[in-house]
Amino acid sequence: MNVNIGRKRSHFRTVAFDLKKNRVLLIEQRLLPHQFKIVATRDYRETAQAITDMVVRGAGAIGATAAYGLAQGARAFTGRNLEKFHAHLEKVYQRLKAARPTAVDPVNAMDQLRRQVASGLSVTECQTLACDAAEAFANEDVAHCREIGEQGASLITDGMRVLTHCNAGWLAFVDIGSATAPLYTAQSAGRKFHVFCSETRPRSQGATLTAWELAQQGVSHQVIADNAAGHLMQRGEVDLVIVGSDRTLGRTGEVANKIGTYTRAVLAKKHNIPFYVAIPLSTIDWNLKSGLDIPIEERHEEEVLGAWGTAQSGKRTYVRVANPGSGARNPGFDVTPADLITGIITPAGIFKPKKLWLNRMRLGFASES
Ligand code: MRU
Repeated sequence: MNVNIGRKRSHFRTVAFDLKKNRVLLIEQRLLPHQFKIVATRDYRETAQAITDMVVRGAGAIGATAAYGLAQGARAFTGRNLEKFHAHLEKVYQRLKAARPTAVDPVNAMDQLRRQVASGLSVTECQTLACDAAEAFANEDVAHCREIGEQGASLITDGMRVLTHCNAGWLAFVDIGSATAPLYTAQSAGRKFHVFCSETRPRSQGATLTAWELAQQGVSHQVIADNAAGHLMQRGEVDLVIVGSDRTLGRTGEVANKIGTYTRAVLAKKHNIPFYVAIPLSTIDWNLKSGLDIPIEERHEEEVLGAWGTAQSGKRTYVRVANPGSGARNPGFDVTPADLITGIITPAGIFKPKKLWLNRMRLGFASES
C-alpha cells in the first residue's frame, strides 16, 4: 500500500518479517488514522498477543502474521533434536491459533507452513523451510488480492455507489485487500464511483481504517452510521455491496464476516441490490458443514459500552458512552446464509456461494484438509 507520510509517498506491507532480527513487523492499526507507526514483535508470544489485541487485524493480515509468528517461533528453537523441535512448533502453533478464533486464514496459513516443514531433515532445514513458507503465504495473499481485483472490477461501473462494511482492504491483508481490490482495479481503469463505508461499531474499522485507506488512494467516499444503510438502500442510493469474509464455508457457501454483515445482506436482498463477498483462497474452510459451527469471537464489553479515539492532545483515549453499570454483549462476527449472497469473488473467478464445493479443485481444496 502507498501511504502519504508528510510529503513522501511510500509503499508498505501491512505485515512483514525482519529476518535478521527475527521480528514480525506490523502496522499498529489501533492508532490509525491518527498516527502511522510500525511495531516489531520480539517473539511468537508477542506476535500472538498483537493478533489478540488487534494491533493487526483482518483475516489475511492475521493469516500472514500467524505464518510469520510460526516461523519466528521455529527460528527461536535452539538444539538439534527434530522431535523436540516439532513439539516446540506444535506449542507455537496452538498459541497463535488461539489468538483469535473466527478467521480461518491463520489456521490455513500455518497448516500450509507445517506441510512444508514436514519434509525438513534437520532443525536448520526446517527453520529455513518455515521462513520460506511464511514468505510464500504472504506473497500468495498479495497475488490473490490482485486477482480478485481483476475478477471483480467489471462489477464496478461509472457513477456507481458501493457500500462496504468493516475493513477488507489493504490493512486486512498483506496488501491491496479483498473487497477493495475490485474498487482499486476499477479506479486504475479510470472509472469514477463513490463508496459508503459503514462505520462498523463497536471498533469502527469502517470509519477509521477503510475511510483512511480510501482517502490515501484518492477514492471518493463517505462514512455512514451503521444504522443508515437501510435508509440509503430504500432511497436507491446504493447500487452494490461488497464485503470481505473471515471464514467462508466451501461446503455450504455461508459467510462469516464482521458483525452487521448479515443485516446488510438482508437489506440488500429486500432492495434487490447485488451483494458480493470477496475472498482469497485462504479464507475458505472446507471442513465445517454448517455456519452454526463457526466459532464466533465474543470480545470485551468495553468495546460496546464506549469508544476509543484520539484526544486533541494526540493521546489514544477511551470514552465511556453507555450508562455506568450497564453490561453488554459483544459478538464480533455473524454468518450470512448463501441465499442472500449474489456471488463470491475469488482469485479463480466469481461463483454462486453454493457452487464453491463443485469448483473445489479450482479453489485450492486440499484433500487432507
Ligand atoms: O475484527 P477484525 O477487524 O479482524 O474483523 C475482520 C474484518 O476486518 C472483517 O470482518 C472483514 O470484513 C473481513 S477480513 C478480510
